[in-house]
Amino acid sequence: MNERNDRVFSGIQPSGEIHIGNYLGAVKKWVELAETHECFYCVVDDHAITVEYDPREMPRQTFDAVLTTMACGLDPTRCTVFVQSHVPEHTELTWLLNTVTPLGSLFRMTQFKDKARNALQRALGQKKGGARKSALYHLKEVGAQALTLIDAARPDVEALDPEAEHTDEQIAELVSRINDRMGEMMQHLQVGLGVSQASTALFDYPVLMAADILLYKATLVPVGEDQEQHLELCREVADRFNRKFGEVFPTARRVKGAAPRILGLDGSQKMSKSLGNHIGVLDPPEVVEQKLKPAYTDPRRVRRSDPGRPEICNIYSLHEFFTGGDRLAELAEGCRTAGIGCFDCKKTLAAGINRALEPIRARAGRLRANPDEVLDGLEQGRRRCVEVAASTMEEVRAAMGIGRGVIGRGAKEVERGD
Ligand code: TRP
Repeated sequence: MNERNDRVFSGIQPSGEIHIGNYLGAVKKWVELAETHECFYCVVDDHAITVEYDPREMPRQTFDAVLTTMACGLDPTRCTVFVQSHVPEHTELTWLLNTVTPLGSLFRMTQFKDKARNALQRALGQKKGGARKSALYHLKEVGAQALTLIDAARPDVEALDPEAEHTDEQIAELVSRINDRMGEMMQHLQVGLGVSQASTALFDYPVLMAADILLYKATLVPVGEDQEQHLELCREVADRFNRKFGEVFPTARRVKGAAPRILGLDGSQKMSKSLGNHIGVLDPPEVVEQKLKPAYTDPRRVRRSDPGRPEICNIYSLHEFFTGGDRLAELAEGCRTAGIGCFDCKKTLAAGINRALEPIRARAGRLRANPDEVLDGLEQGRRRCVEVAASTMEEVRAAMGIGRGVIGRGAKEVERGD
């Protein structure tokens, strides 16, 4: 199939300001794809509400996310930009796809397990309020189940007789067996506790994501590697649907290399607003400089006179995106020979980042002064979505034997006495 006929779909969460990790990792590629393909870009508020959130903050966060992606270069006259909840077909299709989604596949999703565990930890960390209490009730209940599990280690423990002659091998073997069991139990316990507390919507997150993509019959999905498992689920669900109800959905694949993983300023975890290791695309120039000052570099470079290793320095890896070819080689050389210090290297990076962000900030300023431009863009997007979504849904409902489109057929059959 001709690549250019591929339809592109991608989504971004409205929770948290958009940072240079999102920009380099996704939005920049979206802008490029919009030049060559028909693209649908969605701010996924229905996804954002699957974890704790403040409904009073949501409209502003959603608008902000739309405005920022537009400032980054998404032009509503060249691609379809919209908000997920403005097109209710997304949730309708989710329900229908739920019927062909195996529970087992959803339980395997690692993002669900991670998020469930984090949510529980946050609930337990709260000082007061219902969240903490209900988490404690779960702790009690699932704890009881855990006792049963722990009992499974009994034979190994009982096999240990301190008075008996054990060979070194036997002891090592026992230690490792008991250790492994305990590790397993701890893991099981943490995941189990989180999972039992998580909302059904969080569990169903991947099916909503599959619905996003399939509603538009998109075949190209520019997202990071961390979303590959969700895309696999999307293919599995589409496949099961097609086998059961007839060929409706195409196969969606990830645009490889579309979204390199950008580490945060701590140099250890993915850049994210919630970890506070980010640079927002709309951060003013001084803030960019300040955030870079304490940023993690080569840990072996303690003194100014120590030579550094650009290949393992996170600051250098950011230079690769923001600093031009010749200057980049100079910086690498300067770092290796201790010709330049981290302080100056970071100053150069700040300048590069600010140069790249300047037009984005300017566009954001203009859009903030003209919110109607953003709203009009969204309305245009919504209309285009509803056109496509309505047609897919008609096809899906008919294939499944539900909806207004097929009830007349039922009536006729009754009338004929079939
Ligand atoms: N889950 C995606 C993320 O966290 C966001 C998303 C929602 C998405 N629906 C999508 C991405 C559909 C691609 C296609 O990054």
